[in-house]
Formats: sequence, structure tokens, C-alpha cells
Amino acid sequence: MSADVRFNDLSLGGTAPAAEIEAAIARVLASGWYILGPEVEAFEREIASAFDCGNAIAVGNGTDSISLALTALGVGPGDEVVTSPLTATFTALAVSRLGARPVFADVEPDTLNLSVEGAARKITSRTKVLMPVHLYGNAADIDGILALAKAHGLVVVEDACQAHGGRHRGKFLGSLGRVGTFSFYPTKNLGALGDGGMVVTRDEEIAAKLRRLRNGGQSTRYRHEELGINSRLDEIHAAILRVKLKYLEEKNERRRELSRMYERALEGTSVRPVAVRDACTPARHLFVVRSPRRDPLAAHLKERGIETLIHYPIPAHLQKAYENLGQGEGSCPEAEKACREILSLPLYPALPNESVERVAQAIRAF
Ligand SMILES: Cc1ncc(COP(=O)(O)O)c(C=O)c1O
Repeated sequence: MSADVRFNDLSLGGTAPAAEIEAAIARVLASGWYILGPEVEAFEREIASAFDCGNAIAVGNGTDSISLALTALGVGPGDEVVTSPLTATFTALAVSRLGARPVFADVEPDTLNLSVEGAARKITSRTKVLMPVHLYGNAADIDGILALAKAHGLVVVEDACQAHGGRHRGKFLGSLGRVGTFSFYPTKNLGALGDGGMVVTRDEEIAAKLRRLRNGGQSTRYRHEELGINSRLDEIHAAILRVKLKYLEEKNERRRELSRMYERALEGTSVRPVAVRDACTPARHLFVVRSPRRDPLAAHLKERGIETLIHYPIPAHLQKAYENLGQGEGSCPEAEKACREILSLPLYPALPNESVERVAQAIRAF
């Protein structure tokens, strides 16, 4: 039986008119050019302009966007990158793949974004990069993180993989550090019909390096200047994403409207929405609440036909894959507590207002 209130809706017309997407795909098929071509170039220019971030370099996925950003900054074996444990673990895997070490600092108890004090405590002589994650599309304390980086001579890379179109003091998330990284995984606010990613930077030298690194390190065809990888965006996905980008702000506004409805409807209930900092216009990728009785609440909602998910049930430092880092239980207590309490409620632009009320009613009844 399918749920009455689905968690998400990824059907073709959900974030842009289906006919426009179909026309974009047809245009690429007619062109006979499929990888890194005119659609990708146009999409890169449009992202650079839409997010006011200088240069945009399209890559194969969000994980690669982080790995390539770090490689372009010279991060490699022995280096440390301080980041949040409360994220898609892919954030950290992108660091590990380079032979560098992700170092997890705890999160703020209210926003669940990387704590500046926590990050400060993790800085060592091997630290090269501070990498906040704009979790759920809500801005991390980017002012505090930039100041901390400056004080220690470090570079900031923003994991904006959940934050397309989100802003902090009017500036786009991803455009505030030296390099910003995006994912176009289908569930994202700007999602492809497959994998995709983007690295953004105002630094022309890093941008030029990224253009080589994503394409085998080639400067021109068959001339490999450095050890790059194959992480390129398809023309079809670029064409689809160009259509979706036109509707991003409108769809993000709808996400914010639904989130405000949730907040009002949940006042006085036993759940507490995750906080958004004042200076932030969130992308509202996810709407997440906390409950000390999270698992029974999720079961109660499921019985009433309401889908929920948990982002994320296990913090990165407690993943089996990261046993060897020795950052065990208790090393990031706020993130660990949050992972026991957080629950993501249904949120997508086409979610009807009535569904928000239905979810809120079911939570009140719990
Ligand atoms: C915060 C964050 N970082 C990195 C990634 C990795 O992106 P991708 O799945 O496109 O590799 C994701 C998405 O899964 C994410 O949400």
C-alpha cells in the first residue's frame, strides 16, 4: 500500500514543467553531443550568475565535487579536514578518498550545524581545511567559521550539497568560502534525473585547475598535465538542470512557506523543529523535528499513512567505515544525541497544504 502523505515526489513535473524537461532532453538527443558540451557550458555560466559565485565547474556528483575541490587546494595524504559528523557520510568519504583525514567536530545543539567552538578544538598543525555543511539547506555559522579559518591560516570549503539557492545575509551558500560544492542527486532542491555535481569558486586559478582535474587532468585533448579523474557532467543532465534552475527560487519559496506552516502547526506539540539562524534564508531541503521519542513517533505516523525519514541515523564518526579513526562514542555528544531524536517530515514543493495539517494533527495525537 502506498502512503497517503509521501515523503517526497520525484515525478518529472515536480520541480519544473515536464514538457520543458522533455524538450530539453530532445534538444540534446538531436544535437548528438553528450558529455561536456554547450549545455554544460551554459549551465555553468547560469549557476555562476544565479549564485553569484564567480566560476562554476560541473562534475559527476557531489562527492566528487568535494574531493576535487580539496585536491585543487592541495589537500592530500596526512592532511586533516575538520567537518561535521551530522551529514551524509559522503562528505567525509570525499576527504578519505584523497588519503586525507576527516576530523569530526561537534554540532550546535539548536541548528545541528558545525559548531565553531567545536571546530576550533579540533585544529592541529595538520589541519588544512574547515568544511562546514549547510545541513538541511540551513546556513552553518559561516561568519564564525571564516573568522576561525582566517585566524589559523586555513581555507574554507562549503559543503552546500543540500543548500541550492539558500542565502546567508543575502549571499548565496556555497559562494562564501574559497570553494563551494553542490550535488544534483535527484532528491536535492536542484536535482538531476541521475547523478551530477558542481564546484564553485571565485579563484580563477583553482577554477582552471578544476576544469583539468575533472577531465583526466587534460589541458587540451590528449595532453594530461596532472593526475585528474573522470568526473564529467552529461549534456542531458545539464539541459534538465538548466530548466530546473529557472524554477529553483519559486520552488524554494514554496518549501519555506510549507516550513512556516509546519512551524505554526507544531507549536505546543511535543516535537521541536531544528532551528534556522536569523541571518539565513534557508533552502529548506528538509524539514526536521526533534523528539525524545522519535522511533515510536515515526511508527505512529507510518500507521497513519505518513512517510518520514531520518537524516541521519548514524553520525559519520560512528560509522563502521570510520572505526579506524578512533573518534568513538561520546566524541561528538550533540550530534550523537541528535541522531537519536531527529525525524524528517514530508517536504517537497508540490506537497499540498492539507498534508502539512494532516501531519501536524497526527503529531498532536501522538
Ligand atoms: C551534505 C551532502 N554532502 C555530500 C553529498 C554527496 O553528494 P552525491 O550523492 O551527489 O555524491 C550529499 C548527498 O548525498 C549531501 O547531502
